[in-house]
Amino acid sequence: MGRVADVLKTMEYGKAPESASLANQWLDGHGRRFGLFVDGAFTKPGELFATVNPATAQPLARVTQATAADVDRAVASAQRAQPDWAGLPGHARARHLYAIARHVQKHSRLLAVLETLDNGKPIRETRDIDVPLVARHFYHHAGWAQLRDEALPGCAPVGVVGQIIPWNFPLLMLAWKIAPALAMGNTVVLKPAEWTSLTALLFAEICRDAGLPPGVVNIVTGDGKVGEAIVRHTGIDKIAFTGSTDVGRLIREATAGSGKRLSLELGGKSPFVVFDSADLDSVVEGVVDAIWFNQGQVCCAGSRLLVQESVAPRVLAKLRTRMEKLRVGDPLDKAVDIGAIIAPAQLRKIERLVKQGADEGATLWQPSWACPKEGYFYPPTLLTNVAPASTVAQVEIFGPVLVSMTFRTPAEAVALANNTRFGLAASVWSEDINLALDVARQVKAGVVWVNSTNLFDAASGFGGTRESGFGREGGREGLFEYVRTPEATGPAPAPVGAAPVALAPEPAGLPPIDRTAKLFIGGKQARPDSGYSRKVLDPQGRVVGEVGEGSRKDVRNAVEAARAAAGWGNQTAHNRAQVVYYIAENLAARAAETAGRLARMTGDAAGARAEIEAAIERLFSCAAWADKYDGAVHHTPLRNVTLAMPEAVGTIGVVCPDEAPLLAFVTLVASAIAMGNTVIAVPSERHPLAATDFYPVLETSDVPGGVVNIVTGARDELAKVLAGHADVDAVWFFGSAQGSALVERTSVSNLKQTWVSDGRPFDFERADLRELLRHATQIKNIWVPYGA
Ligand code: NAI
Repeated sequence: MGRVADVLKTMEYGKAPESASLANQWLDGHGRRFGLFVDGAFTKPGELFATVNPATAQPLARVTQATAADVDRAVASAQRAQPDWAGLPGHARARHLYAIARHVQKHSRLLAVLETLDNGKPIRETRDIDVPLVARHFYHHAGWAQLRDEALPGCAPVGVVGQIIPWNFPLLMLAWKIAPALAMGNTVVLKPAEWTSLTALLFAEICRDAGLPPGVVNIVTGDGKVGEAIVRHTGIDKIAFTGSTDVGRLIREATAGSGKRLSLELGGKSPFVVFDSADLDSVVEGVVDAIWFNQGQVCCAGSRLLVQESVAPRVLAKLRTRMEKLRVGDPLDKAVDIGAIIAPAQLRKIERLVKQGADEGATLWQPSWACPKEGYFYPPTLLTNVAPASTVAQVEIFGPVLVSMTFRTPAEAVALANNTRFGLAASVWSEDINLALDVARQVKAGVVWVNSTNLFDAASGFGGTRESGFGREGGREGLFEYVRTPEATGPAPAPVGAAPVALAPEPAGLPPIDRTAKLFIGGKQARPDSGYSRKVLDPQGRVVGEVGEGSRKDVRNAVEAARAAAGWGNQTAHNRAQVVYYIAENLAARAAETAGRLARMTGDAAGARAEIEAAIERLFSCAAWADKYDGAVHHTPLRNVTLAMPEAVGTIGVVCPDEAPLLAFVTLVASAIAMGNTVIAVPSERHPLAATDFYPVLETSDVPGGVVNIVTGARDELAKVLAGHADVDAVWFFGSAQGSALVERTSVSNLKQTWVSDGRPFDFERADLRELLRHATQIKNIWVPYGA
């Protein structure tokens, strides 16, 4: 008779399959052929393509490749539905979203099974993670629909939103997109990924059955061409996209200058940082959830394991033991950990990248067992001896492949963590909470999980920075993607030059002292590299001064200085406030002189005095907000706190308008630096002396060198250089529609955030500073679990 211990060693898992019969019935009920969902009803199937079960390689059904005319019809339906939907009281929209949530729960098993069939992910995940989170998203946003007018007073919906989603979380990404859009009063045209359309179509049915008005949600299926038609459609006011960075770039270019709003949630190469003070057994389970959740096909997968050198051998040994026990196979089996890869193309991409990793010198380790031969499976894979610059350490593999590197000090860990183009998520593991939070603060990521990983909730924002895109989904912060804040635009200011102005006469007999303003770079006045200057004229065409003709080289120098001054963001908010108050004080001391110069340029003496007063008050407001524009602790339903912290965006290029040249300059620059950004400002092209007169103010106000840099010259040309510069994180452009388009198009280089005025006047007098501060910050959500 064997001992119990021996039995435990030899015991194997039995099969625990989930039944697919309901899902098959549903598919059969539709003849396994689907049209689009437009205007509240399904269309007749058009040109069809197959959607395949990745675990069996067998077709499940055929769905329609939408045509351009179909997209037109869907957009028209969304346009027709939008005013009434937005006109409903928040409470009515809340009831609709609540009904959707209830229906999702009612059909939760069908949704989970269908998702597993179509996507290949384990039923354990669809059942326990995807579908519950979908319901949670609709419940949570039913609440935001109810509260919109209280929580975001004066905000209006954006209009019709085009939403394009990927195949890795088909239903969850749909919920992340549709729930906030509807809650805020928008209507949508959504395109699921061509490999995973089925749950979106079942969701369409749910919308119909839940009594959602026709046209509020439209689902069009098809490939990238359909996505492109949505992106280019003139009837759409905003695009929300999740997918690859390459397509994100195409969409940024295609929407440039269109006036469409845009949010992008793109790729990642997220670090999973393990300190020697971590609980190593928890770490191993964390790694499993980080990189083998959803076969590693997760934008925020912890795909780079960074381990402190002293514990690396132990961590890797434990990890290999655990990997040996992972179970890959039939995703409908409830005891399976890892399901199928979405498609042969993805499988080949993974194989190619792993081979390249090995060719570049990495050591490859995979468990001893083999994957099923039927379907598209790939084993959990560990690459060690990986060089930080190698392809597998830099490129998103989007599969169950973990690369591992080591570090010695926390500073080295941060440097390694930030050593990619991406900035989506990070995990930090240490029982030392001081260390963990310090590192969390320094990693460039929109989400940081302390001693945890891949946690999501509707109450917490999700989204990236750098080439992982911009915008947030979820949480209060995510709502701003779907609203227009109260219009700061007002009537165009009266044309300058009408009012007479008394100029102080030059002393008799003496020629005026030449005052050619230089540029202001790194805290010093610097001659422009071009050696040229440009004349500044008054309304009568008389020269009132000259400023430097800034060039590409000057912008580069200014960016370098701004980057070097990034420590400004680490100063306390109190200190930053002090500096901004001091700027106000020094501007007040020079008010008469500055007003005189402003009046000379604009020809409006009374207006100039008012503008100075407004600028001083604005500086006070920015200083006041510096330590009050704070974050939140989100109520995520776990034993943890989720800290939503506004962080500076980084280095911002600020391109100022001609209207209110001093007030606009002061408002833009001060709101950016109050939040901890460093700035390269291009002043009004017509009235640049408003900014150059500011140099002595900055010099006497304890502004650290490089925090504010000023480059005068041809505005659009300088804006283009800023927008194309890889070390600039955001560009704000207040100028022509043409210049706005140029900035958006050029920003594609590093997918920087842009805020452009599209040629519309912006009323700097009435501006709500909070809108500026929102643009000057991005929310980092730091999840900190608790419990002994
Ligand atoms: P993709 O970015 O091509 O597809 C995402 C969505 O965009 C799909 O609905 C697709 O039909 C649509 N699309 C494709 N071309 C378009 C265009 N020109 N205009 C508008 N929409 C367009 O991603 P794909 O090809 O499925 O996967 C390729 C790689 O992208 C993956 O290996 C992975 O590295 C990455 N990826 C990242 C995701 C993330 O969440 N970060 C999600 C999906 C893919």
